[in-house]
Amino acid sequence: MTKKQTILVTGGAGYIGSHTCIELIQAGYQVIVVDNLSNSSQESLKRVATIVGCEPVVFYSVDIRDQQGLEQVFSEHAIDSVIHFAGLKAVGESVQQPVAYYDNNVSGTVTLLKVMQKYAVKQLVFSSSATVYGDPQTVPIQEHFPRSATNPYGRSKLIIEDILMDLQQSAPEWQIALLRYFNPVGAHSSGQIGEDPRGVPNNLMPYIARVAVGTYPQLSVFGNDYPTPDGTGVRDYIHVVDLAKGHVAALHAFHNPQVPHLLAVNLGTGQGYSVLEMIKAFEQASECKIAYQIVERRAGDVAACFADPQLAKELLAWQAEKSLVEMCADVWRWQQQNPKGYR
Ligand code: NAD
Ligand code: WQD
Repeated sequence: MTKKQTILVTGGAGYIGSHTCIELIQAGYQVIVVDNLSNSSQESLKRVATIVGCEPVVFYSVDIRDQQGLEQVFSEHAIDSVIHFAGLKAVGESVQQPVAYYDNNVSGTVTLLKVMQKYAVKQLVFSSSATVYGDPQTVPIQEHFPRSATNPYGRSKLIIEDILMDLQQSAPEWQIALLRYFNPVGAHSSGQIGEDPRGVPNNLMPYIARVAVGTYPQLSVFGNDYPTPDGTGVRDYIHVVDLAKGHVAALHAFHNPQVPHLLAVNLGTGQGYSVLEMIKAFEQASECKIAYQIVERRAGDVAACFADPQLAKELLAWQAEKSLVEMCADVWRWQQQNPKGYR
């Protein structure tokens, strides 16, 4: 019997990480999670095991900046590849606390890379973001478009991409996938795991869901004077389960000799929806009225951002499959079954 491949998932207790753990386990991988639980709860991993019907997920409560702690994990398991989700992700907070963001995201990644080098683990899938395209001049966005940052969070992703490109150039045997996510939404169809933001959500979909359950009286729509069909911002919302499958596809691609050792690919659907279209879709899925008011634009927002998803199809043999209706229905199921999230 061939040995199962062992994947270290940093940030695996978080929103995208927990959904990816499910897809990895179901695809036959052994999963090890490292997470400092700064923005998550171990309950998500308990539920992952329940959903998949497996042994408890191997979990280390370790901060990726803790080199000794990480080395212990690498010394206890023969890790084949790393999927690196761990990081802070709130744009506004990053403007207030840039040093914390560079420390956590950039220094954390550098520490992880040092340990990977020491243990000769040379396959890495990294959570990048469409934010690296800054304010794109045209849409759909292709991977060769110029990169820029408009805030410290985005700059941390740019810097990490650059570090990884330098590393791969210096050591061409490394295989690195930079996955640039568009707007992840949705939840597992079981309703057991989903996005559980702490405090007031920054992102549209969890905010809408909390208006639907009555936590907040109404949604503020940030601007209706953008050069888009209805004036509100247009984004490429992608179901988190599709996104999770994109990570499994990236691991598979590492075994395909046709695929270059360094890839930067968009993970999006290629379809943009406006804020008003999202409200309407959620109203249909939940049969709840979503009250909203139009307010000023939010600083730093772009008019439209959606992917050209063709390269992921070619290189990873992956494409998003789930519809907007499924995204909304799954968020609604998660929100109704877990009105207080994991708490
Ligand atoms: P999340 O906050 O739910 O997950 C991140 C996880 O990393 C959390 O469980 C957190 O506790 C953990 N973590 C943070 N810092 C850590 C550290 N120093 N050591 C160990 N663990 C640490 O966020 P998510 O939405 O699942 O995002 C995962 C990754 O994807 C992040 O890197 C994020 O920047 C990136 N990303 C997210 C989005 C999005 O909209 N959700 C879009 C593009 C990219
Ligand atoms: C979507 C649309 C808002 C909230 C952010 C990060 C990005 C990436 C994903 C990590 C926009 C509008 C929102 C609200 C609103 N994260 N909106 N009222 O800004 O596209 O991307 O998350 O990498 O880096 O910037 O996502 O969900 O915040 O906003 O009208 O209460 O909804 O203006 O048009 P965004 P979002």
